[in-house]
Amino acid sequence: MTTIVVAMGEKNEIGFDNKLLWHLPTDLKHFKDLTSGHPIIMGRKTYESIGKALPNRTNIVISRKKNWFEEGILIVGSIKEALKFAKKIDENIFIIGGGKIYEQTIDMADKLEVTLVKADLEADTFFPKIDMAIWKKTEETCHEKDEKNQYDFCFQTFERIKTQ
Ligand SMILES: NC(=O)c1ccc[n+]([C@@H]2O[C@H](COP(=O)([O-])OP(=O)(O)OC[C@H]3O[C@@H](n4cnc5c(N)ncnc54)[C@H](OP(=O)(O)O)[C@@H]3O)[C@@H](O)[C@H]2O)c1
Repeated sequence: MTTIVVAMGEKNEIGFDNKLLWHLPTDLKHFKDLTSGHPIIMGRKTYESIGKALPNRTNIVISRKKNWFEEGILIVGSIKEALKFAKKIDENIFIIGGGKIYEQTIDMADKLEVTLVKADLEADTFFPKIDMAIWKKTEETCHEKDEKNQYDFCFQTFERIKTQ
């Protein structure tokens, strides 16, 4: 199973200036619960935005740059290579962004784990439109903002109902 994990605003916005748009500790915990113990695939910019390898997961970073190495991550030159290595490690793999990587992988994913943040924010990076002829929302749990989480948000699961 290949799952995309994303947190996006009401206009599919996901980032600005190589940073996230919100601070939602409950979503970070949800992300950790989903991905811990499984390989995660990300673009080089998302890796730089996080700033370190995430623990208890094989971190696979996609980049066209040659000859760079960093402790704790596996660097690959293409999405195909990332998927090949990830599938050798575990059958459940997670694609965690960013925009460039989502664009190129949404058509091959089986599942989307979306956090829909109830906000409309300025952004320079977006998630592709979720085509409801292809995807069906199968689960939704919503949370109201509180002293730790600055916006209302919903965890939504989409499953593929049609192959491309
Ligand atoms: N809200 C969320 O859930 C979420 C999740 C993740 C990220 N984000 C946000 O998204 C933004 C980053 O996204 P982004 O679209 O700018 O960058 P990105 O997708 O994280 O990374 C893009 C980089 O990945 C490499 N790459 C992409 N496609 C490739 C391919 N086919 N073959 C080889 N390498 C490839 C290239 O690296 P090189 O330039 O090194 O060749 C490219 O510059 C940040 O603002 C981040 O905070 C949000």
